[in-house]
Amino acid sequence: MQNESVVLRVENVVKHLGGQRILDEVSLTVKKGRLKVLIGPSGAGKSTLLQCINFLLPPDEGKVFLDGREINPKSRKDLLWLRQRVGMIFQDFNLFDHLTAMENVRVALIKVKKMDKRTATHRAMEELARVGLADKAGLYPAQLSGGQKQRVSVARALAMDPAVMLLDEPTSALDPELIGEVLAVIRDLADAGMTMIMATHQIGFSSSLADEFLFMEKGRIIERGAPSELLARGSCSRTMAFCAKLSELSGEMGG
Ligand SMILES: Nc1ncnc2c1ncn2[C@@H]1O[C@H](COP(=O)(O)OP(=O)(O)OP(=O)(O)O)[C@@H](O)[C@H]1O
Ligand SMILES: [Mg+2]
Repeated sequence: MQNESVVLRVENVVKHLGGQRILDEVSLTVKKGRLKVLIGPSGAGKSTLLQCINFLLPPDEGKVFLDGREINPKSRKDLLWLRQRVGMIFQDFNLFDHLTAMENVRVALIKVKKMDKRTATHRAMEELARVGLADKAGLYPAQLSGGQKQRVSVARALAMDPAVMLLDEPTSALDPELIGEVLAVIRDLADAGMTMIMATHQIGFSSSLADEFLFMEKGRIIERGAPSELLARGSCSRTMAFCAKLSELSGEMGG
């Protein structure tokens, strides 16, 4: 079935950093329109895994396939092809401070996609409208709230028509009252059928959207399954234990 097709496949990825084995044979498969959620303690390797998937950090071993094509890390053409199709959302937004919101969304359309300025501007405005920021297009990052900056960053990724989006704790740098507006955008993306992998501590939120939780510890995925199974009452899962600890810390489940 078309909508069951595999978009991204990661096979036995190994990564060493600072002499330590940070990723230890990690494998996963994401089908079209699905959301996989990476959870686990700090230092587990979640960010490292996301960065290995788009070769911001080249894996030492293992393979990455996008839309069935194996990426050759030595091929600049492959890396460019991959990065045009993988949208990345970072915790700290990674916007250009000297460009307005609209220009931040537009820049890769002009430079990478070689769109003419008019078309690129039109597209950038469409994507800003999609995340509810049409009226902020002319503002610089310093003039935006954290939640607005993160929505600009989502609009920038969307403008590239990604096959998959990787989100690395997209709400963890935000004040609590701003988290909801970014989660609402992520929910809209999931509802619209975007394929995504997201590292997050927003367990409550993501349990309703994710088809699978991947629990990482010490560079390995040690537990995986449907949120409803892993979080079922009476479940002895590591995921459940981790969530209990999180909710103890935050005073509420998921948040
Ligand atoms: N450049 C580096 N050199 C050495 N060690 C590194 C480097 N980058 C990351 N690490 C180590 O790799 C491990 C995994 O880090 P990573 O950032 O992937 O964890 P994480 O699961 O994303 O954690 P968090 O929840 O805190 O974001 C950590 O122990 C970290 O110290
Ligand atoms: Mg991280």
